[in-house]
Amino acid sequence: MRVLILGVNGFIGSSLTEAILSQRDWQVFGLDVSAHKLGGLLGHPRFKFVEGDVLINKEWIEYQIKKCDVVLPLVAIANPIQYIRQPLQVFELDFEANLAIVRHAVRYRKRLVFPSTSEVYGMSPDRELSEFESSCVYGPIDKQRWIYAASKQLLDRVIYAYGVEHGLDYTLIRPFNWIGPKLDNVFEPKEGSSRVFTQFMSNVIFGRPIHLVDGGRQRRSFTYIDDGVDCLLRIIENREGCASQQIFNIGNPGNDVSVAELAQLIIEEFKKFPDYRARAEAAEVISTAASEYYGKGYQDIQARVPSISNARTRLGWSPMTTLRHAIQLTLQHYLTAEEQADLS
Ligand code: UGA
Repeated sequence: MRVLILGVNGFIGSSLTEAILSQRDWQVFGLDVSAHKLGGLLGHPRFKFVEGDVLINKEWIEYQIKKCDVVLPLVAIANPIQYIRQPLQVFELDFEANLAIVRHAVRYRKRLVFPSTSEVYGMSPDRELSEFESSCVYGPIDKQRWIYAASKQLLDRVIYAYGVEHGLDYTLIRPFNWIGPKLDNVFEPKEGSSRVFTQFMSNVIFGRPIHLVDGGRQRRSFTYIDDGVDCLLRIIENREGCASQQIFNIGNPGNDVSVAELAQLIIEEFKKFPDYRARAEAAEVISTAASEYYGKGYQDIQARVPSISNARTRLGWSPMTTLRHAIQLTLQHYLTAEEQADLS
C-alpha cells in the first residue's frame, strides 16, 4: 500500500509514519515544510520525504494523489490562539487548501482519511458526544474561536456529500485532545500558544505560573498518541471496508479530567524527576479570566467526552493509556540519558 501524508512532520503525521514503518510494510510518501520531528525515519527505504508547502507544491500533490492508494491531508492550524489571531489563515489553510485536495481524491477515486476534530461538536450539551446523534453548537460570529470548528464541519459535510453523490471512499477521524511527546515544543514556552498539555509542562520546566483559565473547571478526554495512531492504522488498513464512509471519534473517555486536575497530575509527575522536583514543588497555579488569557474572541468548551462505540465495534479498537501514564511517557521522552540514569 502506498500512503500519502501531507503534513508528515506534524504531531500526528510523524507519529503515524514511525508506526507505519515499524509495524506495517506500507510505503509512505510525505510532504512538509520541515522535517525536525522525523529524525531517523528520513533514510528509511520505504519513506520518501519531500520538503514543500501544500499552498505551493500543488502539482506534486496532484501527481502523488494519482499514484497513491490512500491520502491523509493532515496540514491544518489546530491551535486555539491562532483561531482568534489569524482566523482567515485558518479558513484558507484548513478549509480552502484542503478542499482542493479532497477534490483530487474524488477525481482520481482515491481513499481519503481526513482529520475532522472533536471541536466540531462545539458546545453540544450531550454528556457523551456521538458521531451520529450529537448536534454541533457554536457561538456568535465575533467569537472567532469557532472559525476552526465551522471550517472543519463544512468540510465534513462536503466530504460526506461527495461520498453520497460520487461514491468517495472516505473516513472522517475526530481526535479528542491527543497528547504526547511531539505535540508542541515544551522548550519553546510562548504563553498561550500551545495546547494545554504542553503549556503546563513548559510552565513547570521554566518555573512560570500555570494559568487555569476560569479556574480550570473545563474538562477534556486526553488521549495518548500511541492509542490514536493504533486506531489510525486500523482505519488505513480498512479490513473488509470496515472504515469506509465512516466517522470515528478517537478519544479516551476514561481520561476525562478537569484542566485543574491535569495541572495537579503534571506537577505530581514532575516531582518524581530529581532535576525538576524543586521547580514542581514551587509551581504556582493561578486562575486567569478567559478574556484576559485569550482575548475577547475566545469562548470555551466546558466538557468533551467521546462516545467511542463506533470505533470499538467497527475497528475493534480501545484506548489503553491512562492520563498519568501518558504524562510519564511524555516526560521520559524529554529526559536526557543522564536524567534517565538518575531515575533508575
Ligand atoms: C483543541 C484544539 O482546538 C485542537 O488542538 C483540537 O482540534 C482539539 O481541541 C483537540 O485536540 O481535540 P482545546 O481542547 O480547547 O482545543 O485546546 P487546549 O488549548 O488544549 O485547551 C484545553 C483547555 O485548557 C481549555 O479549556 C483552555 O481554556 C484551558 N487552558 C489552556 C488553560 O486553562 N490554561 C492554559 O494555559 C491553556
